[in-house]
Amino acid sequence: MNAIVIYKTKYGSTKTYAEWIAEELGCEAIDAKEIKAEDLLNYDTIIYGGGLYAEVINGVALISKNIEKLSEKKIIVYTTGITPLDCREYYDNLVLQRNFKNGVPENVKIYNFLGKMVLEELSVVHRTALKTLKKIMSGKENPTEMEKLLVELCDADGDFCNRDDIFELVQYAKK
Ligand SMILES: Cc1cc2nc3c(=O)[nH]c(=O)nc-3n(C[C@H](O)[C@H](O)[C@H](O)COP(=O)(O)O)c2cc1C
Repeated sequence: MNAIVIYKTKYGSTKTYAEWIAEELGCEAIDAKEIKAEDLLNYDTIIYGGGLYAEVINGVALISKNIEKLSEKKIIVYTTGITPLDCREYYDNLVLQRNFKNGVPENVKIYNFLGKMVLEELSVVHRTALKTLKKIMSGKENPTEMEKLLVELCDADGDFCNRDDIFELVQYAKK
């Protein structure tokens, strides 16, 4: 299989998954900074991973902006985030709509994994952003279940990466 795993990471969780996946597939994992869109044409299977930041998959434009050129490729996109994986409404609607404005193309399959958020590792900008989000959400009069969850998630603190979760992605990539 001629595959590559590309990742964009700020705190390391997406890279951790990239290395696990690459190890299972026997291919290379490479930082998105080191690859250009034209290089993607050299591979049949392209796996792209990015952390979620305000529902945006970090750096996914590398795939979404070049989707026409990549129409013959098998593409897998994975996210890492702190939203529980059973929040399907969040992943299947909100995240997908925000990142694939024209819908997810047929040759693209999406997987979601839990990442890490260790509060003391976060940049000042990110810590401030989370504090502001928490303040806004906490001030809502009749918060939805999702808004209540968001307030809780602002205080999430830990590493939730789990190698077992890549199993299905790896099986699909090998098919
Ligand atoms: C400012 C900020 C915004 C975030 N937004 C989201 C989000 O919208 N959804 C989510 O599930 N996780 C969110 N997270 C958690 C990150 O996605 C999570 O820590 C991810 O694993 C980071 O991946 P990386 O370290 O590889 O960049 C956010 C974290 C920060 C610091």
